[in-house]
This record gives sequence, C-alpha cells and structure tokens, in this order.
Amino acid sequence: MRYSRMFIPTVKEVPSDAETVGHRLMIRAALIRKVASGTYTYLPLGWRSLLKIIAIVREEINKAGAQEILVPSMQPLELWDKTGRSTDYGPTIFRFNDRHGRGNVLGPTAEEVFTSLAAGEIKSYKQMPINLYQISPKFRDEFRPRFGPVRSREFIMKDAYSFDATPEGLDESYKAMYDAYCRIFKRCGLDYVIVEAESGEMGGSGSHQFTIPCESGEDTIVYTEDGFYAANLERAAVDPLPKEKSSAEIPAMQEVHTPNIGTIEAVCAFLKTEPKDMVKTLIYAAGDEVIAAVVRGDHDLNPEKLTQAVGGKHSELADEPTIQKVTGAKVGFAGPMGIAGKISKMIIDHAVAAMAVGVTGANKTDYHVRNVVPGRDFPLDGENITIADIRYAVEGDMYNGKKLLFKKGIEVGQVFKLGTKYSEKLGAKFLDEEGVEKPCIMGCYGIGINRILASATETRNDKNGIIWPISIAPFEVLVTCVNQDDEEVAKTAEHIYQQLLAKGVDVLLDDRILRGGVKFKDADLIGIPVRVTIGRKSVAEGNVELKLRSESESQKVPVEKATGKVIELVNSLKEQLMV
Ligand SMILES: Nc1ncnc2c1ncn2[C@@H]1O[C@H](COP(=O)(O)OP(=O)(O)O)[C@@H](O)[C@H]1O
Ligand SMILES: [Mg+2]
Repeated sequence: MRYSRMFIPTVKEVPSDAETVGHRLMIRAALIRKVASGTYTYLPLGWRSLLKIIAIVREEINKAGAQEILVPSMQPLELWDKTGRSTDYGPTIFRFNDRHGRGNVLGPTAEEVFTSLAAGEIKSYKQMPINLYQISPKFRDEFRPRFGPVRSREFIMKDAYSFDATPEGLDESYKAMYDAYCRIFKRCGLDYVIVEAESGEMGGSGSHQFTIPCESGEDTIVYTEDGFYAANLERAAVDPLPKEKSSAEIPAMQEVHTPNIGTIEAVCAFLKTEPKDMVKTLIYAAGDEVIAAVVRGDHDLNPEKLTQAVGGKHSELADEPTIQKVTGAKVGFAGPMGIAGKISKMIIDHAVAAMAVGVTGANKTDYHVRNVVPGRDFPLDGENITIADIRYAVEGDMYNGKKLLFKKGIEVGQVFKLGTKYSEKLGAKFLDEEGVEKPCIMGCYGIGINRILASATETRNDKNGIIWPISIAPFEVLVTCVNQDDEEVAKTAEHIYQQLLAKGVDVLLDDRILRGGVKFKDADLIGIPVRVTIGRKSVAEGNVELKLRSESESQKVPVEKATGKVIELVNSLKEQLMV
C-alpha cells in the first residue's frame, strides 16, 4: 500500500477523555475514532491489526479442533428468560422489541443460542465432543465504558462452546482451549499471566483468565513470587492470620453512645480507634435465608467467597427492614453479639476470629461496644456458625505461607467449565452408552479481540509511539522515501517496495511529498516494526538504512541487498513469536 493513498489521519492532540497511554496512541496513530460512548470506528490501520489478530485466533482455535459458525447477534429474549439471565445479566443487556412486540437481546455473549442449537441437534454421546465457535460483535451496556476498546459497548469476541458427554471429556476440551489461548497470546506478542478466576454469573466449576499485566488494567492479579499461585482478586485465597495476643486481661464489654455515627471511618474518628480494630457485621439475604457476614473493619467482604462459604447460594445485601429485624437497630449499628439465633447462618472471617479485641456495633441504634472479645462475647462456633475466608486479599496477606503480591492487568480472555447449567435449562440432552438421558457438559471460552489490540498498544510503546509485535502490526515493513521529489530516490524506494511486495511482505511505502521529519514522526507513531529509509544521501552512496522500531540503532545496507536483509529481519521477528 502507498501511504499517499491510504487513510491514516494521525493526530498530535488527543481528546482529554483518552485516559491511558494505549488509548491515546490508538487515536493518535489513527487506529480508532470514537463514535459515541463505548463505540469506535476502526480505521484502516486499526482494522488491519484486528484482522491479523482474528486470523491468529481463528487458526489456533481451528487447530484445537473447534469449528467456526455464526449465530445471530439479535437473539430472542425468550431464550434469555429460560436461563434466567435476562434478569441476572441485568442492565448490561441491550434489549428492544421488534414491530410485533417480541423482545430481543443484542447478544452480550451467546451461551443461550449455542446451547439451544445443541439441544436441537445433539442426540447421542457419539456426536460429542464438539466445540463450536464464532467471531462476532458483542454488545454490552457497560456501566462505565472506558479506556477505548478495553471496555466498550460493542466489541468483537471469539466465543467458543464445548459439549461433552463426560466430565473427563470437558477436562480435555478445556485443556485444548487453554493451550490454544497460550499459543494465541504468545503469537500476538503479549506477555500474559494466567490466573485462577471465579466462574461467577456464568455458573460452573472452574475458570482461568488470561491477563496482560499493565498499570491501567482494571483487574487485579494476586500472585506469589515463586509463580505457584496466581488468581484474580475476586478469587485470591488468603491464609488465616495468626491469633493476636492481648497483653492484659480485657475488661468487660462497654457500650458507648455514638449518635448518628454509623460508618467505620466516623466511628474510628469518634472513638480514636482504627479500622483494623473494628468488627463489621453485614447482613445478607439469599431468598428467605438471612446471613450475617462478619469481617474486620479494614477488610472488604468478597461476595464471591461468601457465596462459596454458604454453599453456592448467591446473596445480596439485605434490605433495611430485614437488617432492623435481625439487629434491632438502624443500619450502621450491627454487631455479632446475640444475633446467631435470629439468622440462618453466621459466617465469620478468619481475621475476625484472630482478633484479640475489637469495637463493634451494639445492635442498638446510636451505640457501639468496646472491649469485644471474639469467642468470649460472641460465639466462634455453633450449629450455624462457620469461620471462613470471605474477604478480599490485601497487601501483607500470605497464601500457603507465601507473601501475596499484587499487580494490575487487562483481562484478554477467559475459559470456563460451565457444567450443565445451560444444558439443563435449555434441554441440551443426549443418550449415553447405556441409553440414559443426560445433560451435555459444557465449557465456554471467550477472547476479546479488541482488547488484544488495546493491550498491545498499552504495553508496547515508547514516548514517540507504538512498537508493534510484528504478528499484529498493521504492516510488517515501512519503506520511507525521504525525498519523494527526487526521481532517483523515489525510483529506488519504489523498486524495493515492489520487490518486497513480490516476496509477499506486508509493506507500506511512505511516498508522501512531505519533509523527512514529518514522515519519521509518523513512522515512530504508527510503529511498523521493520523500517527501510531511503534518502538522497544514502542513495548517492548506494545504500539504504534499515532499522527496527524497537531499536535506536540503524544499519546501512547496499541497495541491492536491502530486500533480502529486510526479509531476514522480518523472519527473525516472526520467529520470536512462533509457538
Ligand atoms: N466491554 C468489553 N469491551 C471489550 N472487550 C470485552 C468487554 N467485555 C468483555 N470483553 C472481552 O471478552 C472476553 C470474554 O468476556 P467474559 O469473560 O464473558 O466477560 P466478563 O469478564 O466481562 O464477564 C473478556 O475476556 C474480554 O477480553
Ligand atoms: Mg471474563
């Protein structure tokens, strides 16, 4: 392609709502333009990259044995009602009625459609394993779209769904996808980290996320230095804390008047204590069960862990009347004393059980109590009392005796063992070898195509622009003709360009009639990995200049050797990303 004929509107200034390096570069390097909040147009350079990413994903997923299909983005709401996700997925689903008043969903994902396809077609264990996937736009009315393509409202996802007859079969299907993901992200030139994840809303028994570490990431990776453990923050387990020792006998509990002071911060300021010396009691409801979750004042309750601790039942913070009924007080004054008999379950975090003494709500409006000793003043065991890990890990925590470290990352893909949640609800059943009817055992596997692009620009750059991995760069080689108005120089550039094209190299020729400085700035910005620079001086010497975008040094090569040398460089860059 010729730069002079291409639509590459690079810009110096970027809108102030572009918050991250990668987002700014995607705009400046003319990869994307914003249309509305969370929706983007992909310009020629951005789209070329996306197509290369899609090609890599497609190749590896095919190689792993999955088959590509395409299902509609417009899906009947009825299907989503059947799985309950029209409610569970909540306001993130875009919905609309058609002219006949029938409800539709713009698919945020496609478990329902793929599972109902299987329900109609799979009859026997002999038809499995089967793994079907698509690469298509997905729609999510994100509460807070941001960082450009990282969290947008319309994006391209590769989503695959496996159907197996046995749990062992699912394990194999899962492993095949997991391994394909490793190859995909390696080939895309991204340094990824695999973390254990919760399967959450999706249901199911196991999940991993593929995450690209970077400062602006919205996900938190929690890991041990030795690499044996890595999980996302929702999942990360912590060791119980050692039991605190108290230096002296702790006097009896003492009630203190704390008028209108209900938050941890306010109580701490008022009583001159610290959040870590407070006990927070949160009242949750799961259907008609009421659960008291007790965590230390400086810790946050992890709802996923709470769900696990109560046996998988999802619960929500209870409403005010329920809280009043259980505690006998307004919201903000709950404590663990004397409430075990009034609720279904009490789950006490390990860290609370390890406290020597604390301050907590008095179960009496406008009152707190001091000198509360866990085990003395409220029970740590009993029929409906469990001590469990129900909080988020924090800096300083250990797991398996090793220090937990934290870093931010962008989730680019996730794999889930779904089990039979969807197949049961949508009737995807088969007859096994004995003729017994069983639900298909499913897995699902997503990759955010646009997030791969975004992560690459976010993590591979310098102050002048993008430094593309060659596999997903919009072009592999940029031939910069410094003096387009000089016939000899233009001819040499054209010649090398044509030779590279003939060899199948993906090359862009900067044939614009512009000053060299402008061209070099654009070259740095758009970040094509291999660069050939041809100017008056070098041509006079019979040379051209070769340079990698990732390096500052360039080398002079005789004109007639240029093409061969460029191909060598391209191949060596490609080799580094091979799997
Ligand atoms: N709003 C979004 N914008 C861009 N990509 C997204 C968005 N939401 C999800 N993705 C991509 O799709 C992949 C699969 O999504 P999934 O795991 O179902 O979503 P989530 O992690 O939000 O529950 C994610 O790993 C991510 O790469
Ligand atoms: Mg996910």
